[in-house]
Amino acid sequence: MAEELTVKKGGKEEMYEALLPQIEGLLAGETDTIANMANVAAALKQTFDFFWTGFYVVKDGALVLAPFQGPVACTRIGYGKGVCGTAWKEARTVIVPDVNEFPGHIACNAASKSEIVVPLIRADKKVVAVLDIDSNYYNSFDETDAKYLERLCLLIN
Ligand code: SME
Repeated sequence: MAEELTVKKGGKEEMYEALLPQIEGLLAGETDTIANMANVAAALKQTFDFFWTGFYVVKDGALVLAPFQGPVACTRIGYGKGVCGTAWKEARTVIVPDVNEFPGHIACNAASKSEIVVPLIRADKKVVAVLDIDSNYYNSFDETDAKYLERLCLLIN
């Protein structure tokens, strides 16, 4: 597929509906996980212009910074630490409407106000990475984001 993305404007649901098949196309035939994460981070950034969009991969017992779009960020996050480490430990999507109210939230950037973290879970139930999206507005993420981002994460090998 040509490396271009058509960004649909409209409601969140419509935007995800337009984005997901394009991401499927972008990832088709590419088996390199880092390359695929890089394009997914870029496609989400192009579509929604979130403040920070990126991945952390599980490596040597920690989450290590992987492809992302946005300002520089912390490189390592421990098991159970912050929102990312919680999503890893509990193997579930975590939505944080207000980061000030999440005990242990790791503030890589003071501009982050709300956040969603979706784990990438392998067939054997092991969490191998997380997708972290930060917004500079409160209450940016809901069940619609969770539904589509979980679907999106299943597309990444
Ligand atoms: N806020 C995250 C850390 C990662 S950065 O926001 C990019 C957390 O609490 O896990």
